[in-house]
Amino acid sequence: METDRLAQRLSAVVGPAHVLSAPALRASYETDFTGRYTGRARLVVRPADTAQVAEVLRLCHQAAAPVVPQGGNTGLVGGSVPTPAGTQVVLSLRRLDGIDPVDTAVRQVTVGAGVVLSDLHRQVASHGLEFGVDLAARDSATLGGMIATNAGGERVVRYGTTRANVAGVEAVLADGTVLDRLAGLPKDNTGYDLTNLLVGSEGTLGVVTRARLRLVPQLPERVTALVALDSLDSAIDLVSRLRTLDSLELAEFFMADGLALVLDKSGLPAPFRTAHPVYLLVECAGQRDPAQELFDVLDKPGPLETAVALRGADRRRLAAYRERHTESINAEGVPLKLDVTVPLAELPGFVAGLPVLLAGRARPYLFGHLAEGNLHVNLLDVAAADEEAVTGQVLERVAALGGSISAEHGVGRAKSRYLHLSRSPAEIAVMRSVKSALDPAGLLNPGTLLPRAVDASAAGHHAR
Ligand code: FAD
Ligand code: MLT
Ligand code: ZN
Repeated sequence: METDRLAQRLSAVVGPAHVLSAPALRASYETDFTGRYTGRARLVVRPADTAQVAEVLRLCHQAAAPVVPQGGNTGLVGGSVPTPAGTQVVLSLRRLDGIDPVDTAVRQVTVGAGVVLSDLHRQVASHGLEFGVDLAARDSATLGGMIATNAGGERVVRYGTTRANVAGVEAVLADGTVLDRLAGLPKDNTGYDLTNLLVGSEGTLGVVTRARLRLVPQLPERVTALVALDSLDSAIDLVSRLRTLDSLELAEFFMADGLALVLDKSGLPAPFRTAHPVYLLVECAGQRDPAQELFDVLDKPGPLETAVALRGADRRRLAAYRERHTESINAEGVPLKLDVTVPLAELPGFVAGLPVLLAGRARPYLFGHLAEGNLHVNLLDVAAADEEAVTGQVLERVAALGGSISAEHGVGRAKSRYLHLSRSPAEIAVMRSVKSALDPAGLLNPGTLLPRAVDASAAGHHAR
């Protein structure tokens, strides 16, 4: 089927205004947040509901057109944008943005895949409830994208990753078949867990159209502290003591050079009069006095300096020093982003060894979710010729230490050729079997997650 013929048929389903073929209209769907991954879409299609998604996928299947699902396009591993070949249809889910009435009795809500995280937060807050997952991309990331990547974020230590907060999904397979697992039943042992198969599948097994989400009660008392420490070892020690608190929601770290960059790019005032090697952002929340609990832990042995905030605006001001790392690094250059888990006991050694491993080939900025040993290794100034070697060497070191080559961002196109470092040949073979059972023609997000045998389009996919 020719492009214009497919465009005509898709237009009949979603309306001509929602099939974008002009380059200027497609542009924002073709480049990722970092600017590292850019491509060309055959078309961008913007359906409004599940029935339209099913019909769009059926037509693309008939036309053998590969499809890249896209939500807020904040993903950081190149899985949300098309390859440069111009053959892939971008399926934007953003118009599926309805939020059903909140079911306060069972603390669940059903939402469209295109609902933006901060809109969900606002909606459920009016019922005294919260969604347990939160991340700095909250104003753009969609629930569909978060489910597809099993996003982690800042509150995993208390509420788990997205997976733990999803009770069910509705999804459309590559041929247009609709799977409805939205009942959200607390007990339902009727075979394979299709919801959990789709969570973290990065748009390769099905397109999430709606989701049934678990909610948690809003906690009335909340305290945030920014703690300055002399080393990563001290930060890890503090996190292990903080873990004894039921009220602990967040333990995020960053380093002196990262803070200096954030201050430079954002114009924020420095949090302390002097710079310190390591910073930990901590938040506790509970029914009664989480601040006192937190101070009891912070008191022995005391950090170098601590700034504490109780009011919302002040808490957000402290959080900004951590949350603005991504945009500040982006403002400095196009980063090579590695998102890894290193077992906590190995983390200080891994960080101390990085300069030797990088051998002057990159300017590293490190930050992340310390409670899970989730380190965001952001590398600037890497020469194009060094990118593959640097990536391979860092990820091999992570794997040798028993870590994971992708902690929370997913595998995408960026890490697919390194999947074997974290998954065995047997596991990858099972993943391929699952993929071919659900998407035998290989049309959903090809080149993402599973390495392709011949993958000319994934290689050389950089903007620069
Ligand atoms: P997209 O970027 O549009 O897509 C991501 C992947 O999901 C792609 O493979 C895409 O094909 C697939 N996909 C999207 N929608 C669907 C759907 N409906 N059905 C099937 N597949 C779909 N991630 C974290 O885990 N933790 C963080 O703390 C975090 N912080 C971030 C902070 C910033 C400033 C930024 C820019 C990103 C951050 N991310 C983080 C990464 C990103 O926001 C998350 O991965 C998020 O879940 C992606 O959502 P999205 O809607 O933007 O998805
Ligand atoms: C974060 O924790 O802020 C994100 O995962 C984004 C990033 O890694 O840049
Ligand atoms: Zn993160």
